[in-house]
Amino acid sequence: MINPYTSDHPVLLAPMAGYTDVVFRALCTSFGCDLTFTEMISAKGLTFGNVKTAQYLSLGADEDRIAVQLFGHEHDRMADAVKIVSDHLGPHLNCIDVNMGCPAQKIVSNGDGSALMRTPALAGRIIEAMKTVSPVPVTVKFRKGWDDDTCVSFAKVLEQSGADALCLHPRTREQQYRGLADRSAIGAVKAAVSIPVIGNGDITGGESAVSMLRETGCDGVMVGRAALGRPWIFREIKAAIANEPYTPPTLAERLEVAIRHAERIEQEKGPHGLVELRKHLPRYLYGIRGSAALRTKLNEAKNAAEIRAFLLDSHKDITI
Ligand SMILES: Cc1cc2nc3c(=O)[nH]c(=O)nc-3n(C[C@H](O)[C@H](O)[C@H](O)COP(=O)(O)O)c2cc1C
Repeated sequence: MINPYTSDHPVLLAPMAGYTDVVFRALCTSFGCDLTFTEMISAKGLTFGNVKTAQYLSLGADEDRIAVQLFGHEHDRMADAVKIVSDHLGPHLNCIDVNMGCPAQKIVSNGDGSALMRTPALAGRIIEAMKTVSPVPVTVKFRKGWDDDTCVSFAKVLEQSGADALCLHPRTREQQYRGLADRSAIGAVKAAVSIPVIGNGDITGGESAVSMLRETGCDGVMVGRAALGRPWIFREIKAAIANEPYTPPTLAERLEVAIRHAERIEQEKGPHGLVELRKHLPRYLYGIRGSAALRTKLNEAKNAAEIRAFLLDSHKDITI
């Protein structure tokens, strides 16, 4: 079991429902990401034995830098879910994270996700219950608050309840994804607790990761949207943190990563994987001149071999 929170400035892939499947996680890990997260998994679904929910626990053969993210609001059920996850994944599991930040209506209306920021005592009870059964660190990902800045007092409750590390996305639930992530909130949480704090929100590359670390004093950074279609961002960030030179991938190398993504998702999930790939592929082409026609062609591709052929054939028409 690797505990990435004990390493110097870990760089993490954010959990992203619908995106951070086994294939995308493996790609990010291959570019140096220290820890990846599953998509958020319902504790209720797991404890009810829902087969579809349990599928989120399938790992890649050599996946060993993985945290499972759970959501739920019932402390006993969350503890039961921890047992299921740890029995199922054994030594492959590194951490269990609790989603206390999701702003989606269908999540908060059940009292899950960021709704827990309105009930800090319950949030604390959940962590205490999970800690009594978890063989691995229990961490929490949360927001700046519900509609106000309450993250410091919330972080203290989580620390007192036994959380091993925290990750803050400093926007309120009300803000959803609007405005800028408020880095000062990350600095305030870091100053208030003595467990590791990971900063998240609007990191777009090496420079913004380093400035997040410098401005907030946080222990590590987590990258979400900027990694989509750009899994090599982890290599860029690790180089920037180590103050080492970094050469961005060439166009050919970028396309090769997109091809790898297509081939692995087809291998892993069959034709359905190619449907899921449709939301990833255009992201590999962002900023590439002349790629509009290629995007249409890729959408119509019937298999990964066709995707490979279209991408390799496109070199003459497109430029970075
Ligand atoms: C499509 C999408 C799905 C997300 N799903 C989750 C999730 O399952 N669990 C979670 O804690 N956060 C989720 N988030 C929030 C991200 O983990 C992250 O906190 C947010 O995107 C801010 O980071 P960024 O600016 O680096 O993208 C999701 C975000 C996006 C865009």
